[in-house]
Amino acid sequence: MTKALIIGATGTVGGLVLKEALSRGVDVRALVRDKERANLPDTVEVVQGDLADRDAVRSAVKGVDSAFYVSPHETNEIEIATTFGQEVERAGARLVFGGFHIEDPAAREAAFQAIPAYVGKLKLAAFLAGTDTKPAMVSLMNFDQNDEVFLEDILAGTFPTPLHPEGVNRVDIRDAAEVLTNALTDSGFAAGAYQLVGPESLNGVESARIWGEELGREVRYTGDDPEWRKAFAKRLSGQKLADWISSFELLSAAPFPTNPAEVEVMTTLLGRPPRTFREYVRDFVRENVS
Ligand SMILES: NC(=O)c1ccc[n+]([C@@H]2O[C@H](COP(=O)([O-])OP(=O)(O)OC[C@H]3O[C@@H](n4cnc5c(N)ncnc54)[C@H](OP(=O)(O)O)[C@@H]3O)[C@@H](O)[C@H]2O)c1
Repeated sequence: MTKALIIGATGTVGGLVLKEALSRGVDVRALVRDKERANLPDTVEVVQGDLADRDAVRSAVKGVDSAFYVSPHETNEIEIATTFGQEVERAGARLVFGGFHIEDPAAREAAFQAIPAYVGKLKLAAFLAGTDTKPAMVSLMNFDQNDEVFLEDILAGTFPTPLHPEGVNRVDIRDAAEVLTNALTDSGFAAGAYQLVGPESLNGVESARIWGEELGREVRYTGDDPEWRKAFAKRLSGQKLADWISSFELLSAAPFPTNPAEVEVMTTLLGRPPRTFREYVRDFVRENVS
């Protein structure tokens, strides 16, 4: 049976990869900063440590077949990703990366100029892609689950995340987690770059309307308010706040259309069409809002 290490198991992406892997009976190890706070199921082997501590990373990767990496919102993200890639390589394990990667060097160079806030993320992904770990480099579009950060606002009737009027592709991370878990457990999963997408692009007004319809109350789009950053600062802090503001500056300035060829690839990888944003909201409301 595959033994898989999961980084970020208490976060959005890693948490859903962990849930998916456990549901398939995968033998899972997680590296967490605080065992008590992480409070993971007993079936998970927990290694306590920080990604900045090479010895902790070395213990965490020892004996695993595959390792999932999501880059945390940390100021030392290049350093910690570099240590991780080196240690996965040293352990002879396969690497599965979930985040943001541009494979073509010329396109990556152009992105450095266009989105300077992403230079660190693009550099660390390029480093990991070059490691001798048979890496599966999985890029993810805008998460449906981002909206949960603003749940209080949404329940109070406002949707504060700015999304371009022509729409941004949004992906349900439960779908992404299925594909990422395939990559973790299938030693034949081809190394290379993958773009995981949802079936449609939505703007802020459409996202707000779907929340309102599923909640049975009015939810008004407020992402066009020039003060939207203040709503973010109420819910997030530190490097995560800075990263989210840069991301949403991009997502409000440019549309991210849905590429039918990418939806087709996603459908093949999942063995079914990806979930719609409405399906995500409906499930979330049913499971979490009384
Ligand atoms: N949001 C989007 O739409 C989107 C789209 C594409 C890509 N991305 C990328 O996805 C990544 C964020 O993923 P996420 O949303 O899952 O993040 P998240 O929810 O903030 O989770 C981060 C995880 O990393 C752990 N962590 C943080 N610093 C650590 C350290 N020094 N050592 C060990 N573990 C550490 C955290 O553990 P603790 O419990 O200890 O804090 C947590 O489990 C970013 O790189 C972002 O650019 C996001």
